[in-house]
Amino acid sequence: MAPEDAGLKKVGVIYGDVGTTEFRFTVSGYVEQGDYVQVLHPREGWVLGRVDAMERKTDLSLEKAHVMARGGKVDISEMVSATVSVIGYRDEHGILQHPRTPFPAGAYVYLAKDDLIREVLGIEEHREKGAYIGKLYGHDIPIYLDINRLIQKHMAVLAKTGSGKSYFTGVILEELLKHNVTAVVIDPHGEYGSLRKPARKTPAHDEFGISPRGYGDRLLMFSPDPELNRGCRPLNFTLSHMSPRDLLNLMNLGNTRSYLVPLRKAMDLLKTSKGDFTLRELMRVIEAEEEDSLGPLLGGLEYLDEVGIFARRGTRITELVQKGKVAIVNLRGVPPDIQQLVVQRLATALFELRKRNKIPPLFLVVEEAHNFVPQQGKADSSAILRTIASEGRKFGLGLAIISQRPAKIDKNVLSQCNTQIILRVTNPNDLNAIGKSVEGLTKGSLEEIQRLPIGVALVVGANIPMPIFVKVRPRETMHGGQSVEVL
Ligand SMILES: Nc1ncnc2c1ncn2[C@@H]1O[C@H](COP(=O)(O)OP(=O)(O)OP(=O)(O)O)[C@@H](O)[C@H]1O
Ligand SMILES: [Mg+2]
Repeated sequence: MAPEDAGLKKVGVIYGDVGTTEFRFTVSGYVEQGDYVQVLHPREGWVLGRVDAMERKTDLSLEKAHVMARGGKVDISEMVSATVSVIGYRDEHGILQHPRTPFPAGAYVYLAKDDLIREVLGIEEHREKGAYIGKLYGHDIPIYLDINRLIQKHMAVLAKTGSGKSYFTGVILEELLKHNVTAVVIDPHGEYGSLRKPARKTPAHDEFGISPRGYGDRLLMFSPDPELNRGCRPLNFTLSHMSPRDLLNLMNLGNTRSYLVPLRKAMDLLKTSKGDFTLRELMRVIEAEEEDSLGPLLGGLEYLDEVGIFARRGTRITELVQKGKVAIVNLRGVPPDIQQLVVQRLATALFELRKRNKIPPLFLVVEEAHNFVPQQGKADSSAILRTIASEGRKFGLGLAIISQRPAKIDKNVLSQCNTQIILRVTNPNDLNAIGKSVEGLTKGSLEEIQRLPIGVALVVGANIPMPIFVKVRPRETMHGGQSVEVL
């Protein structure tokens, strides 16, 4: 064995026409699609590549297969061929380079060593400032995301339903809590309260060097409906900051025009006499008009009163945002338009207060983001989320967008998310949206995204310069997003 390949596992030999970005090799040792391989380039030294596709070539013809089908014996000669995308090597300045001349045919292909993978992919251990999200798929290389960059440059977690978005987001929140980073989570399904409770221990915890624990003392839980969502503090807004038109829009009344004037009159009256006021007080003023045609307006106000979002005293943002704590805004059971209102009001307040440095830098996590910043259609929360996506980084307000329908999220917002976590996606429109927004994705990786096992994510951005596949670490806390068993 030549000295340069000491300790390396040979898996094949390059054959056929060889390019600088792609080559094929005949497989002689055990190698799988997705594995990293290394080849010695005559000028540049060791170069890293990744097996993008594999194919078994055989001489079993239709006729011979037919013979076999009838119990006959046939000799089959077969060979496995693998296609490799060349990733490159680091030059003496540490810059990633591609070889500029092709590899020689006949060159040996080896399984890549972890050190070379780390060096070429630029994987560093950011223990102090890093979020430990898991290990490089198929390797014992821990992957950390640089938390500063994560927050400064926004994150998107995209995948089809049930493929592990909320689970992964839970991992990120655990890491933020561990590093004393502040966050606010928009939680439409009430899944994140389980960060309080430790997970049941499994062998995977040892494998990843993780111990179950809960974060009860560091979680703040709020909901507009604390009766349904037990254990949450009430989340309320004041009416005096609402425009009559916006308030009317929340009531789902057909023709709202005729109610605008009486509503405005009543609100103005209360604002001047009391400052802040309640829906009950507003209803009383309108009832005093004794005008039959205002019945539906009263019904609309009654509905809003039941939703319970407005109160004389609004929730203070400084109560919700506390340094090093994660605030969960549980919107379970809250009607969609009210959810959008909550996100709009909260996000606006966070942005304004961050600008004036009245609250600590923080991460705003928005689950089901396609409902709050849709590409098509209107949502009250769209404008402010777009503003945060484009300007938040200047003020230390990071945005995490989570969605099962990437194609349905505002494209501008998605393109501002520098760190991207892609789990399994199969919908062609969504794959298309991802292909457009993720840089450096090979055709092979786009194919792989469609077949990813649960718990494996494609990760790129922050400190990860090239897309890599990561096996997500187990949760320290309980995962709250379990599906409901019907039987
Ligand atoms: N990394 C992982 N390790 C182990 N199990 C996982 C992992 N990721 C997800 N799961 C399992 O898959 C299930 C679905 O995950 P999750 O709730 O995160 O999906 P989702 O993408 O958020 O789905 P939805 O779109 O419905 O919200 C979880 O209940 C969990 O049991
Ligand atoms: Mg989910």
